[in-house]
Amino acid sequence: MAERNLILAFESSCDETSVAVVENGEKILSNIVATQIKSHQRFGGVVPEVASRHHIEWINRCIDEALAEANVTYDDLAAVAITYGPGLVGSLLVGVTAAKVVAWTHGLPLIPVNHMAGHIYAARYVGEFKYPQMALLVSGGHTELVYMPKEHEYQIIGETRDDAAGEAYDKVGRVLGVNYPAGKTIDEWAAQGQDTFHFPRAMEKEDNFDFSFSGLKSAFINTVHNADQRGEELDKYDLAASFQQSVVDVLAEKTIRALDEYPVKQLILAGGVAANHGLRSRLEHDMQKFHPEVGMLQAPLKLCGDNAAMIGAAGYINFINGDRAQMDLNAVPGLNFERMK
Ligand code: KG4
Ligand code: ZN
Repeated sequence: MAERNLILAFESSCDETSVAVVENGEKILSNIVATQIKSHQRFGGVVPEVASRHHIEWINRCIDEALAEANVTYDDLAAVAITYGPGLVGSLLVGVTAAKVVAWTHGLPLIPVNHMAGHIYAARYVGEFKYPQMALLVSGGHTELVYMPKEHEYQIIGETRDDAAGEAYDKVGRVLGVNYPAGKTIDEWAAQGQDTFHFPRAMEKEDNFDFSFSGLKSAFINTVHNADQRGEELDKYDLAASFQQSVVDVLAEKTIRALDEYPVKQLILAGGVAANHGLRSRLEHDMQKFHPEVGMLQAPLKLCGDNAAMIGAAGYINFINGDRAQMDLNAVPGLNFERMK
């Protein structure tokens, strides 16, 4: 019988407390996600102090539920995987400490996981990974193109110079009076409107794989404020559609260009913003047209946001590649792929 490696995975980098049990990095036995969104909504964004307090309150219950739902005990586990960055330091520390306690108490190896690698591995639940591979990672804190020549090797070839795509969604959402996080609602509104405002497409034609979303955000906010001053009300569906079209155009064009330059077998689409319907259908269309030879794996909708199942899948790869953390593992808020080596 094939070996059954069960990993207990922890994720607490932002405003989701999550614990999962994952088998061989490819099967979810449980994935408990306690979201704090309601507590942060009235502030219009995540308040770090509030977030870490919630993590402390929830983490033990999440561990118990994850084990119970998977129908396993600590004795069945092969390892403990933990997100140690990037993210909010106080939030990360709660997960790191809990994972260390479990690993130490039960004599299990502690596997450090980069949160962004975790996002990529959400797509592992859709199919097997083939290398070389490219990932478009779009979340609330990051927007980057990651080239993976082989398993366990990550190179950032392009990233945002200012705001992340999700951050831009949340900021324009605020101007439209949409609750944090605004991405999902703007996405729904966009489907009902037209690109009538033609906002700028930053860095679209530049010969690099970097992104910028702060100019788009400012153009959007100015348009709304100027209309307010004139006492004019703009169509929120058209505003959303115009904003989304600008984001999607740049993300899709740069991704296709990255694939022109880097011959890969697969494109992975992951991160919170990967749940965006406009982005998903545009990439499906463009991949068919320009790179039909490249397979695409999109993270499942319910695993696009932060969750521990994705950390368990990435953690399994680190586990079989020999990554081990010691009991002095610390949270690294600014962790990036380069710093992992
Ligand atoms: O990856 P994630 O859950 O957290 C981070 O690691 O940042 O991403 C959260 C971000 C938020 O900015 C949220 O507005 C955005 O993902 N988001 C979306 C959609 N669903 C969530 N953005 C655009 N369209 C969506 N459907
Ligand atoms: Zn995330």
